[in-house]
Amino acid sequence: MPEIAGIVINREAIGARVAELGRRISADYAGRELLVVGVLNGAIIFTADLVRALELELEVDFLRVASYGDSTCSSGRICLSKDLESQVADRHLLLVEDIVDTGLTLAWLQAHLLARRPASLKTCALLDKRERRQVAVAVDYLGFAGVEGFLVGYGLDYRGRYRQLPDICCLRL
Ligand code: IMP
Ligand code: MG
Repeated sequence: MPEIAGIVINREAIGARVAELGRRISADYAGRELLVVGVLNGAIIFTADLVRALELELEVDFLRVASYGDSTCSSGRICLSKDLESQVADRHLLLVEDIVDTGLTLAWLQAHLLARRPASLKTCALLDKRERRQVAVAVDYLGFAGVEGFLVGYGLDYRGRYRQLPDICCLRL
């Protein structure tokens, strides 16, 4: 694949980190039931692996936001293109996102979900591009910090492609 420059985080490292996150989240929520909220489409694979690493009673639901279009930089405009089907009020929510870049998407999602008065809301993100942050957002559980470049694979895409790659790779732009 000529657009792929190389592997940034391989599948073994991802698997080990997801297992570790699963242990921490399971311990933190012991005895409580979770509503896991995955953000489509980028977080599908992470969400699927993470929920299988949780030893908890839980339900999984998805919502979808659009902010990027076909570009590799944020437009800053966020719209909800698919909402949750589950009730949110009085439930413990774990928002699962693929990557936090400017933070605009996550800040919008957190506000959107908090407005529905959950019992609690925490956020788990696989990747964090901290240097590019424009708004402060809380990330309670993080896979890998300080990643750079445009990343694809393990759910992340470039123009809809490369989500299926088992490793997280850097794009040659
Ligand atoms: P933010 O609103 O700028 O934080 O953008 C977050 C969203 O942009 C993520 O949910 C991703 O869908 C997308 N995104 C940001 N960086 C990357 C990347 O390196 N690869 C793929 N998608 C990205
Ligand atoms: Mg996303």
